[in-house]
Amino acid sequence: MTRLRMAVIGVGHLGQHHARILSQQPDVELVGVVDSNADQARTVAAKLNTTPYEQFEDLIGRVDAVSVVTPTVHHHSVAAAFLKAGVPALVEKPVCRTLAEADDLIALAAQAKVPLQVGHIERFNPAFEELVKRPIRPKFVEAERHGPFTGRSIDIGAVLDLMIHDLDLLLALVGGPVARVSAVGAAVFGGHEDMVNARLEFANGCVAHVTASRITRHPKRRLRVWAGEGYAGIDFVTRKLTLVQQSQELREYGIRAEQMDAASKARLKDEVFGRYLQVLNLDADRKFDQLTAELRHFIDCVRTGSTPRVSGTDGREALALAERVLEALKQHAWEGSPAGPHGPQPPTPAGWLFPPLAIARPEAA
Ligand SMILES: NC(=O)c1ccc[n+]([C@@H]2O[C@H](COP(=O)([O-])OP(=O)(O)OC[C@H]3O[C@@H](n4cnc5c(N)ncnc54)[C@H](O)[C@@H]3O)[C@@H](O)[C@H]2O)c1
Repeated sequence: MTRLRMAVIGVGHLGQHHARILSQQPDVELVGVVDSNADQARTVAAKLNTTPYEQFEDLIGRVDAVSVVTPTVHHHSVAAAFLKAGVPALVEKPVCRTLAEADDLIALAAQAKVPLQVGHIERFNPAFEELVKRPIRPKFVEAERHGPFTGRSIDIGAVLDLMIHDLDLLLALVGGPVARVSAVGAAVFGGHEDMVNARLEFANGCVAHVTASRITRHPKRRLRVWAGEGYAGIDFVTRKLTLVQQSQELREYGIRAEQMDAASKARLKDEVFGRYLQVLNLDADRKFDQLTAELRHFIDCVRTGSTPRVSGTDGREALALAERVLEALKQHAWEGSPAGPHGPQPPTPAGWLFPPLAIARPEAA
């Protein structure tokens, strides 16, 4: 099999992992890595024994497929140049900064008849893959995605940085359209929102509460689903899926607590999980991490010409829903003013929560 000539554009925090994984694939030749920061391009290229480039245009005509991992504001210009040249592209999430840009990439990929994949990586989390195989029709979903502030992706806020993962998962799991969106959020460091809670009401009646924060000390990424068929809980960090369903006995006879004597009632709380509600814990059992699975899927789509699991249209739908959350955030009146996310506030007349602590700062170099 001829090796696919690939390159990664933008080899910062995440892109260097795209490049490392691609360099390890036996059916891929990593022909180069591109970064507008020449030192970064050189450092990553030297580690992976490939060629550094500063300009992505230099690779047009020399590659069969690319992975675009620049900051979001550059996704459109970079991916459009390759798609116009008939080169398939995997574009990190969020697909673009605007819906018009996303529409343009989708049209370019369709014209060139090449795959456009979007990097919604949680779709490749084995716990989510296990869940979507099962017949579950969610009625209520709770999604939480919390992490510490990294100083990266500050060109966007917590909705486009984090919450968009869960918006994409919800659209895949529940299916659109979404009838109503309301949201509240705050910008702790100023600029874009750092924490957000949104309530989505789907046209099919499902309700989802989605929370994202990029200023939380301890990371947490989980999804909980309540449905007529049972309950599903995913921990995306440990890649574990917990399923709960009614037992055959419960389905046929119910619990009939009113007919129980005192001793049976006393046993009930120990018997609920097991006898009446059955629990299955599934651990990820796969040799690949999610990023490798996502990149392998893209390589397969490029070779076969098939539509990626997360297509340009899926990326666009997640972005459209994210924009509705951002709009709802602006409409939410905070202390009477619908002025959107709020940055650091001057002390209110009520004063501090506690007396400010003295912090020792490192000496300036
Ligand atoms: N799927 C996920 O879970 C996930 C996680 C983190 C980041 N991301 C996405 O990946 C993208 C990159 O994020 P990051 O955290 O790696 O950012 P980063 O800032 O660490 O890296 C981006 C790199 O791109 C380079 N660059 C900027 N403009 C360029 C251009 N025009 N051409 C070539 N190189 C250019 C920068 O010099 C930098 O090295 C963002 O879109 C982000 O939303 C996705």
